[in-house]
Amino acid sequence: MAKKIAINTGGGDAPGLNAVIRAATLAALNRGYEVYGIRRAYKGLLGEDEVVPLTRDTVRGITHIGGTILGTTNRGNPFAFPVEQPDGSTERVDRSDDVVAAFRDRGFEALIAIGGDGSLRIARDLYKKGLPVVGVPKTIDNDIEGTVLTFGFLTAVDIATDAIDRLHSTAQSHERVMVVEVMGRDTGWIALFSGVAGTADVILIPEIPYSIEKVCEKVIERDRAGRHFTIVVAAEGACPKGGAPVFKDPELKRFGGVCEVLANEIAERTGKDTRAIALRHLQRGGSPISYDRLIALRFGAAAIECVDDGDFGCIVALDPPYVRRIPLDIATSRQKGVPVDGDVVATARALGMSFGD
Ligand code: F6P
Repeated sequence: MAKKIAINTGGGDAPGLNAVIRAATLAALNRGYEVYGIRRAYKGLLGEDEVVPLTRDTVRGITHIGGTILGTTNRGNPFAFPVEQPDGSTERVDRSDDVVAAFRDRGFEALIAIGGDGSLRIARDLYKKGLPVVGVPKTIDNDIEGTVLTFGFLTAVDIATDAIDRLHSTAQSHERVMVVEVMGRDTGWIALFSGVAGTADVILIPEIPYSIEKVCEKVIERDRAGRHFTIVVAAEGACPKGGAPVFKDPELKRFGGVCEVLANEIAERTGKDTRAIALRHLQRGGSPISYDRLIALRFGAAAIECVDDGDFGCIVALDPPYVRRIPLDIATSRQKGVPVDGDVVATARALGMSFGD
């Protein structure tokens, strides 16, 4: 009887998820495995959704399509599964044993868990409970330790760069300051890469706390030099020296709103007409660019090689020109932030861009 492999996608979506699903499915089918998709992270194993067969037909023509054909959720952690109580409140219940039992009942011999840091921590803990797991790192934030890039990141950078390009002409025409907020949670990868590629004047990232005085100095300096507009790119997690980041929901640690805070302060201190724009989920939607497709396809194929070798408890990680295997323990040991002594930061400084420090 053919061995059965399960695949799921967890956490926020990222362009390239479908390419991983396709590559893993085809690589597995070509080696004689049967492949199944667990819908909406682990919910398909917990009676709240389905487990569906993945065939050549189901994965046909999906490499370039955004989102995930398996659905996803960031409210499906089996170790703290939300269960609605009779009084309408929600309680968190550990249902990890149910996941392990359902996985075994269905005769699965391997799980390909595609996810970001939260999903990879879940994968690590399920591995410790005996589940044969291979992780595939996914996130537009690019903050996973051990891999040079995660797929989805460069697509998000492209979308943000395009937005910054477009904002230049309107900022220039109106002599305004435009504050663009990009995603990234506690890291500034998207802000740094799109800010440099899009010729921002100020780039604010969590790894370099800013001073609002320095940000305004840059705006005024440009004004005096006859450059009457300024583009500020702020990572959603950017925070002032000695201060805290701006949360939409501090309890759930949902970022959002730093562009409004910055725009108000800049307008007040400089007198410049200032506008705020948050790109939010636009950065996660649509087709993955070709390099993200390539990373995703390589990760999918490499994950099946791990299964074939019986090598579990690891993630596949990009280390060009190779895809290597990194233990889940290491991949989840810390968040990969922007190196402040790295060449991209140095390049930005060489070009006269300010980090507000
Ligand atoms: O981790 C990816 C990400 O897009 C972050 O950049 C952002 O802070 C978060 O997810 C948004 O989450 P949600 O989709 O739940 O609003």
